[in-house]
Amino acid sequence: MVLGPGEWSSADLAGRVAVVIDVLRATTTVTTALANGAAAVIPFADLEECRAHREKEPDVLLGGEREGVRPPGYDLGNSPLEYTAERVFGRRIAYTTTNGTRALAACRGAEEVLLGALVNRRAIAERLASGGRDATLVCAGKNGRPNLEDTFCAGAIIDMLDRLSADGVDLSDRARIALAVFRGQDAGSVLARCEHGRTLAGLGFGEDVDHCGRVDVVGAVGVLENGEIHAAH
Ligand code: MLT
Repeated sequence: MVLGPGEWSSADLAGRVAVVIDVLRATTTVTTALANGAAAVIPFADLEECRAHREKEPDVLLGGEREGVRPPGYDLGNSPLEYTAERVFGRRIAYTTTNGTRALAACRGAEEVLLGALVNRRAIAERLASGGRDATLVCAGKNGRPNLEDTFCAGAIIDMLDRLSADGVDLSDRARIALAVFRGQDAGSVLARCEHGRTLAGLGFGEDVDHCGRVDVVGAVGVLENGEIHAAH
């Protein structure tokens, strides 16, 4: 369990499944895009590299954010509600965000990289339970620090995984911290009161915050492989 960016570089992910979590909003947005039929999401940590990808692949959609809003010249922002089937079905999307796509880049050493959110919490836990491999949940956090919503989501995944595993799961202290943050709290109210939830509401993205707080509503799981995210089969 990795609570935030300060721990990314020290995490030993070799041979493990990494589940990257950026509930508000990157991993929710990518999961929603895949659920709505996007063919692939190609993540970039850097805004200009993402933009330049269109030179190689003219039909690609550009999506993402800086300071929460759609960068100039991009087709889509980072609102999961923009990634409708009408916009994304069958399309490939080059995508960059402030924290989420950097967290994905930090997980290169893992055997498998999945994208976790509250919307696909059960689907992620089921995949981890059936795979039987060791997993590390990697929270994106915000601006170098842990945050409430990603820690809460990690706790929600661990709670479900524990319930699905006949022999229970072996938890690190950090995983137990996440579980303690999750238990007894409601997703909607956690997202509404966390710092980034309030920032997004202030930018007019209150509906996104509501969407990101919906639990177990999507069966899609994004898998990052060879630099592209596809829906797992
Ligand atoms: C990020 O990756 O920093 C977030 O997804 C920001 C956002 O809410 O757009």
